[in-house]
Amino acid sequence: MTQAPPAASGLLSRALADARSPRVPHTVPYPPERAFPWGGPGVHPAGVGGGVDLDRLLRLSLATPQGTAGRLRPVASAGALHPVRAHLLVGPGCSLPPGRYAYDPRAHRAHPRGRAPADAPPGAVVVLTVTAARTVAHYGHRAWPLLLLDAGHAVAAVALAAAPGDVRVSLDADGEELAAAAGLPRAAEGKGQADPELPLAAVWLPTTHEPALSTAPLTAWAALPGTVEPVPQPGADNAPPRELASARHLLTYLTAGSDATWHPAVRPVPVTAHTLRTRRSAPASDLAHPPAPDLLAQVLATAGSARPDSPAWVAAVGGDTPGLLTATGLLASGDARPTLAHWAAGQRWIGTTGAVLVAHGCPADAPPTLIRGSHLAAGYAAGVAQAHATALGLRSRPIGSWQQADLGAALGDAPGHDWIVHGLALAGPADLPLPAPPSLSGKSGKEERP
Ligand SMILES: Cc1cc2nc3c(=O)[nH]c(=O)nc-3n(C[C@H](O)[C@H](O)[C@H](O)COP(=O)(O)O)c2cc1C
Repeated sequence: MTQAPPAASGLLSRALADARSPRVPHTVPYPPERAFPWGGPGVHPAGVGGGVDLDRLLRLSLATPQGTAGRLRPVASAGALHPVRAHLLVGPGCSLPPGRYAYDPRAHRAHPRGRAPADAPPGAVVVLTVTAARTVAHYGHRAWPLLLLDAGHAVAAVALAAAPGDVRVSLDADGEELAAAAGLPRAAEGKGQADPELPLAAVWLPTTHEPALSTAPLTAWAALPGTVEPVPQPGADNAPPRELASARHLLTYLTAGSDATWHPAVRPVPVTAHTLRTRRSAPASDLAHPPAPDLLAQVLATAGSARPDSPAWVAAVGGDTPGLLTATGLLASGDARPTLAHWAAGQRWIGTTGAVLVAHGCPADAPPTLIRGSHLAAGYAAGVAQAHATALGLRSRPIGSWQQADLGAALGDAPGHDWIVHGLALAGPADLPLPAPPSLSGKSGKEERP
């Protein structure tokens, strides 16, 4: 295991400041998704193996939905680019026989990639990776925080899709250990890899009858010898090479050195399989109606309590008493939504949206563990909150790119300490009269491509 640097490196702080700066990304058309790079025949994940139903889990979270033309995955993703891939470490008691598998979301098949260790813990571990090329092509130097947020949303999708029970999530496992457990070459070694997979997080699904949980489900898998290279697939990386190399380097660097901690996954009570099947990000034009205050409070509480390591969440509301609300009361009065619209790459619709939840924290000089943790946890919390909002009949849309969004400084605190990391627009159903629109202070009319 490599040792994580204790404090921010100059490189990382500069990359974070750059991603948060108004500098307009150099973007190019993003390439189509590459063909699935792991060879061999795939097997359907349905089976009779008991405790963990991987067929259901993957259909509700990551599998390309059938009969919905153009929709790539059930989970949300910045720009609908879907950079997240999954590897399944299957022990006894699952719907697939024990072994290591790469998951092909478009065919909904698991490709066997080796045997399981003799001491594999019962149940399954899902290791989530990202490939950076398409997101970097679309978002340039702003891509790498979005890749972390996307991975967080995918973690939430997998954890919510699991049968209720003892599901655990790790957002801080060492990247080398995750790669070894999933049998992946590290990015630096991935000679044959067209678009290397960078492991960021894992979801652990123990079988429900296990009497005593192991505390380190990756250990036995990481001790298996050897890794297998993916089969290179044709396709071009349009992304600017310097920015692509930089995003891969940063995401590798951020995952160095932590011992994995595993937190229980949360599942808001009303969330069902139907919720996960029907979750969508509403079009910006359908998000103008304020959510009912009690429903807003419930979703805000879910976002704020989803992870112990999540940044804090506040809700910006308009109407007669505009302000920034926390779970315990009013943080500041006044309508923050126009400012949020300006900070969110000038997406003007945010200035009049029903309500905007924002996760904030992650100082400018945050160490690598905090940068990784804040973004993954904010994505995770937003994913859980979006599912909860869907179950409550609310409309929602994540908001990922934030520039100069120093919320702490805007509220009168010292600058640089309290930045917006992620957001989730919320709205009620359109059966109420719209409130009068406030004046917009967002300067730029340019909208981020959704
Ligand atoms: C991390 C993240 C950031 C996003 N940022 C934005 C955004 O800034 N503006 C926007 O309109 N949509 C944003 N979205 C929503 C995506 O465009 C949407 O999830 C995608 O088009 C897929 O559609 P679906 O969520 O309905 O499945 C974001 C989604 C995620 C997961």
